[in-house]
Amino acid sequence: MAQPLLEVNNIHCGYDGVPVIHGISIKVFPGELVAIVGTNGAGKTTTMKTIAGLIHPSQGTLSFRGENITGLSAHETVQRGISYVPEGRRLFSKLSVRENLELGAYIVKDRGEINARLDQAFELFPILKSRADQMAETMSGGEQQVLAIARGLMSKPVLLMLDEMSLGLMPSMVEKMMETIQTIHEAGVTVLLVEQMVQEALEVAHRGYVIQTGKIVLQGTSQELLDSHEVRKAYMGM
Ligand SMILES: Nc1ncnc2c1ncn2[C@@H]1O[C@H](COP(=O)(O)OP(=O)(O)O)[C@@H](O)[C@H]1O
Ligand SMILES: [Mg+2]
Repeated sequence: MAQPLLEVNNIHCGYDGVPVIHGISIKVFPGELVAIVGTNGAGKTTTMKTIAGLIHPSQGTLSFRGENITGLSAHETVQRGISYVPEGRRLFSKLSVRENLELGAYIVKDRGEINARLDQAFELFPILKSRADQMAETMSGGEQQVLAIARGLMSKPVLLMLDEMSLGLMPSMVEKMMETIQTIHEAGVTVLLVEQMVQEALEVAHRGYVIQTGKIVLQGTSQELLDSHEVRKAYMGM
């Protein structure tokens, strides 16, 4: 296989000196859609935050496109092509859909380029175009989630990281959300997502990692994981 786009090499991290992630290694190759799955509190968000540069590992290294990015700030990881869509949307609820999208392109100074990216977002997600001037808070949960993802795409990432996009959505909306993620992936973006909805996530991903109390306990192709007795028993109630 080609060189990994992202390589997380044996990272340890935590909060205020309390360790939460105990030596995690993950690879994402160009063009892949990879899922990290696990229950609440397993360390999924902490892993994402570490890759995004919001927190820094106490041990281990991160590399992106062959360059060491360990210790870079969140701003620097965005400039390198990593976009992190956090858990819980974090939209500016009183700002319009358009304004929220523009904030996703904060690293871009050229107005023409920002407009071009807005047009692309509206093309990919027509619902956002029809609501462009509405306040974000007037949209449904699923629509707000789409807006959060579209905002994440405004920095034109090479790697899009999605943190629990299914959280808080009705079951019928979860499937739609997974289809949206597939559409983005098919448009040429490498995707790393984390999910508690194990089956749904593995059904769209190529490969997956199962995380438990800050460690990767299983990894493989999505099919291998979906077929695995441990996964079926622990996460799919079978
Ligand atoms: N800001 C924080 N300060 C202290 N502990 C935290 C913080 N965020 C998460 N944790 C702890 O880290 C562990 C992993 O959390 P998290 O990465 O959010 O898991 P997940 O995203 O898989 O639900 C949990 O035990 C959680 O309580
Ligand atoms: Mg989380």
